[in-house]
Amino acid sequence: MRVLSGIQPSGTLHLGNYFGAMKQHIELQDGHECFYFIANLHSLTTIQDAARLRQFTADVAVEYLTMGLDPSKVTFFRQSDVPEVTELAWVLSTVTGKGLLERAHSFKDKVAKGLAVNMGLFCYPLLMAADILIYRSHLVPVGKDQVQHIEMTQDMAGYFNQTYREVFVRPEPRLNDAPIVPGIDGQKMSKSYGNHIELFGDAKAIKKKIMAIKTDSTPVEDPKNPETCNVFALLKLLAEPAEVQEWDRRYRAAGMGYGEAKKRLAELYEAKFGPKRAIRAQWAARPDDIEDILRAGAKRARAVAQEVMADVYDACGIVVAKS
Ligand code: ADP
Ligand code: TRP
Repeated sequence: MRVLSGIQPSGTLHLGNYFGAMKQHIELQDGHECFYFIANLHSLTTIQDAARLRQFTADVAVEYLTMGLDPSKVTFFRQSDVPEVTELAWVLSTVTGKGLLERAHSFKDKVAKGLAVNMGLFCYPLLMAADILIYRSHLVPVGKDQVQHIEMTQDMAGYFNQTYREVFVRPEPRLNDAPIVPGIDGQKMSKSYGNHIELFGDAKAIKKKIMAIKTDSTPVEDPKNPETCNVFALLKLLAEPAEVQEWDRRYRAAGMGYGEAKKRLAELYEAKFGPKRAIRAQWAARPDDIEDILRAGAKRARAVAQEVMADVYDACGIVVAKS
């Protein structure tokens, strides 16, 4: 079973990225053949500053390695080191109706917000489908907001297979148990909403953010509903099940203030992510080793992509000059 996922290098990773996507990426590396890549070509749709894109690309690699991605188990690479993926995106565009792309939530949301939409954003699902199909991936672990893109990939694989012949396998999405992690204001945690808690933030600044998580105004002496509380939602991700049960009980009983739950959340954050700051600094000091890891990964990934692309061109009747 081949597992594949991409991570956009668009800024520091946060708890939403970790619990929505990264955690399962790392867990799946044991027992599966995993391909994970840094989706730098996708990021061009929003980051148009060379220095920032280079920095964010380096940061994502450092942060995945820090959190335990093991390059001896996983094929880890940069999307742009396998240029065949852009060739496949073009071929897929020729069997895909424009209407399918117009239905993409990610694109519609941007239009609704009045943002200027470039063609890259409109075609984003084509490149993502090419990423998935070119490695004949079976399983794609992602956050909930990406599921529609995977359903579109299934459709595109079907269009191609019906038009030509069975070249592509049908990929399935895989969700974590935390499909939507709330941010400090209760909306979906996202860099673009500025409501995120970073994975490697400064201890004091993070504690301040946690203490500022939005809660309702139920007084200490009244019972509270854990199911609607943002602090509880994050506690559930970080605490052991027995402790979660205990908080559930304390919320429902009277006499607990939100401040107490927030303090515990800050401690749990620090226990899990605090020790990673030093490991992050160690990886950040080894750019040459990281470059070697990414190049070795790209070599393996590219061999698969070239083989699939040859099959695609053969199926369509594109004649490729023999080198
Ligand atoms: P952001 O919204 O901060 O820009 P991205 O869109 O780059 O985050 O998301 C990268 C990955 O992390 C995706 O797979 C996405 O589904 C997941 N993810 C991001 N935010 C959350 C969240 N709040 N809850 C669950 N998963 C999330
Ligand atoms: N669109 C994904 C995101 O924003 C990143 C991505 C690009 C991806 N290509 C992919 C994820 C292929 C899974 C498979 O998170």
